[in-house]
Parts: sequence; structure tokens; C-alpha cells
Amino acid sequence: MSETVRIGIIGGGLMGRELASALSRWVVLENFPVHAELSAVCDVSEPQRDWFRRIPSVRLLVADYHELLASPEVDVVYVAVPHHLHEKIYLDVLRAGKDLLAEKPFGIDLAAARTIAEAARTSNRFVRCSSEFPFFPGAQRAWRYVQEGQLGQMLEVHSFFHHSSDLDPTKPANWKRQVKTCGEIGVMGDLGMHTVHLPLRLGWKPASVYAQLQKIYPERPDGKGGMTACDTWDNALLHTQISVAGKDVPLRLEMKRLAPGETNTWFFEVLGTDGGVRYSTKEPKTLWTFRRDREQAWQRTDLGFSSAFPTITGGIFEPGFPDCFLQMWAAFLAERAGKLEGRLGCVTPQEAVQSHRIFAAALQSHREKRAVEVAYEKE
Ligand SMILES: NC(=O)c1ccc[n+]([C@@H]2O[C@H](COP(=O)([O-])OP(=O)(O)OC[C@H]3O[C@@H](n4cnc5c(N)ncnc54)[C@H](O)[C@@H]3O)[C@@H](O)[C@H]2O)c1
Repeated sequence: MSETVRIGIIGGGLMGRELASALSRWVVLENFPVHAELSAVCDVSEPQRDWFRRIPSVRLLVADYHELLASPEVDVVYVAVPHHLHEKIYLDVLRAGKDLLAEKPFGIDLAAARTIAEAARTSNRFVRCSSEFPFFPGAQRAWRYVQEGQLGQMLEVHSFFHHSSDLDPTKPANWKRQVKTCGEIGVMGDLGMHTVHLPLRLGWKPASVYAQLQKIYPERPDGKGGMTACDTWDNALLHTQISVAGKDVPLRLEMKRLAPGETNTWFFEVLGTDGGVRYSTKEPKTLWTFRRDREQAWQRTDLGFSSAFPTITGGIFEPGFPDCFLQMWAAFLAERAGKLEGRLGCVTPQEAVQSHRIFAAALQSHREKRAVEVAYEKE
């Protein structure tokens, strides 16, 4: 019998339900060392809580998260709440002696991220931050391709995450459109972690950043018949510089809420003189690789369902968002159990702080209209 890890959710909205779905499908993992079940849920909103009544393993359903943290039936907590609540709730989770999978951006700003990372270090709890797209089979292959050293001299790296529903000016505002709840970094807090997880894990820490930030619709319907101000950055282009084998290489990070036609597209491309790799969730089972011999060729490989953690899903089938979210949770619980075995792990607290350093430098760059050095400390 494998160990059972009991999971509590704080924040039962969009992402809280995604986790409930992933845990309900835990059975698809083959020979996985840990069994995971959802035991407790907290949300301040009653209708949100009610949705979780359909899940038989949920024994505790509460409005005050302190009650969930006091429960001995919770080993790991997933917190998926608005960004201004991250710091307080993450610190309370650690004080309660629970392990934590924190939603991005790991605090509303750099100061919050540093405080959380320090608390994670001193608490000795297992803490990671959410970023699921690198767990698509194609993204995993791209990550491995780069490590295999077939690129020759590296030319450039592109890492994008694009949304498009904000193109519609009648889409109502929510907490993600306002600085006080989403953070001054705006779209970088919403989408940025997805673009930096693989670069940082590959050791590519931007030394400098030149940022172009845009606010596109300054107000939106408030959902109650009026209009409300939207003061967060909507689109962010970050032109950064990394050092690879002693040479400067451009790394372009793009986070966009208004990218025509892109509902939820994660894109990663690395180009070199001898090889290259490109993967987009728009073509979820397609991996593009470049080879320069006597001729130059981009080769398209149909990957099917070749996940890092094996599942019962047929190898010819297509992966989707719920699959990569499940794989991310498998990576989190495997690493927690000391069984990651060379596979990609979730974003560490140190990487989360580094991401905030890049975004803070981007705000300064945009303000001052110049490239800004990114200052890292010991993380
Ligand atoms: N990993 C991803 O792909 C992804 C996607 C979307 C959002 N997110 C992140 O997930 C987090 C939540 O985003 P969301 O889209 O699920 O938001 P959401 O608004 O859909 O859900 C947030 C929930 O938190 C609840 N809540 C608010 N205050 C609370 C409190 N004090 N105690 C308990 N519950 C409380 C709200 O009632 C709501 O149900 C954010 O950090 C966001 O950046 C991640």
C-alpha cells in the first residue's frame, strides 16, 4: 500500500477546482509512489464551497482557513487565492506545520516573495510554486533537448504565455485587473512564472532587462451595471540578456492578456547554430526540432501522450491542460517523497524570488526607459 497524502485547498475558485479534478483522476498514474486525496477545502464564498460537496473524500468544508490549518487530516495545502492574500496565508500554512504548493506569483511583489521564501527555509517544510505548462510532454522534450547539447552555439531563446479574452472590452473586470489585489506587476504576476520556469531551471538568469509594458483598456464593466478602473499592466515584453557558455544571448519573455487568437498559449523556443527546438501548447502533441547538416530542416514529431509520470492514458492520445496540471502535482508529491529521480521539479521558492527580481527590474526599466540590471542575492 502506498502512503496517502491528504491535501487541503484554500481558495476553491478556478484553480482550486482544477486541483479537485486532478486529485479525482489520481488513479490514472501508473505505479506512482504516493496516493493523494482531497480531504479539506476552505473558501469564503458559500457557493464556491458547495461545489466541493460532490467529492466524497472531502471531510472538512470551511469558510475560515485557520480551521483547515488546525486539522490533523491535512498534510499538504494548495493555496489559490488573489495575490494580495498570498503572503499572509502562505506564512500561516507554514506556521501550522503543513507543506505548501503555492500558486504563482508567490506573493504580490518581491518583498512578499522574499519573506515567504525565508519562512519556507526556516520552517523546513516542503514548498514549491505552481507552473504546470513545462509538464506537457512536448515541453519536457524541449527541456531535455536543450540539456543534450545539440544546439551548437546558442542564438536566442523565446518564452511566451499569451491570453486573448481581454480583447473583448465588455469582459467584466475582476481582482486580476487591479493593482491592489493583483499587484503592480500586473500581467507579469498572472502569466510570468509560466515563462521563466524553464529558463531559470536551465540556469538562464537574466542579467538585464528592457521592458515594454502596456495598459490597453483603462476601465471595464464592473459586473453590476457600472464601470471600474483597470490599472494593471496588460501586456509585457521583456527583452533580457542571459549568459550561456560565456556568451551573451537574448532571452525574450512575453506575457500578454491581449494576444489576438491566443486563448491560453504557452510557447518555448531555443535556437542555435546547429540545432533548435520549438514547442507550443497550440499544437499539444507536436515537437519541432531543427537540424543543420548538408541541408537545414525543421522536423515535426508527433509525440502522443508521453508524460514524465506514466499513466494509463493511451500513448497515441493528446495531452491537455488537466493532464499537465496532474503531472505537475505528481512532480510535487514525488519530489516531496524523495522520488523525483531526475525528472523536472516544480518551481522552487528561490526561483520564485528570482522571477520577482526580474519583474521588479522590468517595472523600473519601463519607468526609466532603459535596460536595468537584475540584482540577485544568494538565491
Ligand atoms: N497555474 C495556473 O495556470 C493558474 C491559472 C489561473 C490562476 N492562477 C493563480 O491561482 C490563484 C487563484 O486564481 P483563480 O483564478 O483560481 O482565482 P478565483 O478568483 O477563481 O478563485 C479565488 C478563490 O479564493 C477565494 N478566497 C478569497 N479570499 C479567501 C480567503 N481569505 N480564504 C479562503 N478563500 C478565499 C474566493 O472566494 C475564490 O473562490 C492566483 O494566485 C492566480 O494567479 C494560476
